[in-house]
Amino acid sequence: MSVPLLSLAGVGKRYGGGRRWWPPAQQAAATALAGVDLDIGAGASVGLVGESGSGKTTLARIAAGLLAPSEGRVQWCGRDVRALAAADRRAYRRGVQYVFQNPQTALNPRRRLGAILDDTLRGLTTLKRPQRQARIRQVAAQAGVDTALLGRFAHQLSGGQAQRVAIARALLGSPRLVILDEPVSALDVSLQAQILALLADLRARHGLAYLFISHDLAVVERLCEDICVMHQGRIVEAGTRAAVLGEPRAAYTRRLLDAVPRMRA
Ligand SMILES: Nc1ncnc2c1ncn2[C@@H]1O[C@H](COP(=O)(O)OP(=O)(O)O)[C@@H](O)[C@H]1O
Ligand SMILES: [Mg+2]
Repeated sequence: MSVPLLSLAGVGKRYGGGRRWWPPAQQAAATALAGVDLDIGAGASVGLVGESGSGKTTLARIAAGLLAPSEGRVQWCGRDVRALAAADRRAYRRGVQYVFQNPQTALNPRRRLGAILDDTLRGLTTLKRPQRQARIRQVAAQAGVDTALLGRFAHQLSGGQAQRVAIARALLGSPRLVILDEPVSALDVSLQAQILALLADLRARHGLAYLFISHDLAVVERLCEDICVMHQGRIVEAGTRAAVLGEPRAAYTRRLLDAVPRMRA
């Protein structure tokens, strides 16, 4: 068995300074995540689906190292992320990238898009300016961003264009895992299809792994080979797409399936 890229074991999160000795009701109210085990292998596409407030973003931020868990451990390539040596820490920072739901707020409104991409690339690599410029043009092309747009500010772009820039930014450092947190939820349906097609293409082309988060089962079904279902801070079901959608075991998954009009193969 090869070591997964990312591995979460027994991960929990309480917001607002929750303590173990709090009374159970208060404890439950502050618990956003509990007992989460999740492995993501190289090249995998894992969909995380669940209703709003079920803990998806909390899990994603912990996986990306943006948020510390209250308990449990996170490993990158078999090593605990709290104890990474400097070189491994850089590899983790570069290896996992995050795409947020709302690109307009994720991109600094005061900087031109080209400068935003250049800031990111300088943070991740030691490339000199001409090499950085070449790399930015390369990823812009891959993400379908017209280089003329790089002189603009985020608010001057449509939602779809801005999300493409955010995707380009995520690709700059040649990551191995991209965490996509509701990346199409803020977009019109027609744009959603375009962005999903782009994401599928990028994954195939670069051998990326995805942790793809959505409250929309149909979107996850389209892009992900493995599916985890979250409910009230726990993963209540996990397996291949065929197993989870074909023979859902958790009652919650069956309710989700019933609630969403889906195309059956
Ligand atoms: N920064 C925070 N402070 C306090 N509670 C939070 C914070 N972020 C999220 N929560 C709570 O944690 C739970 C899970 O939220 P979240 O991870 O954002 O779920 P999802 O992404 O599935 O909508 C929710 O009850 C939410 O209100
Ligand atoms: Mg969320």
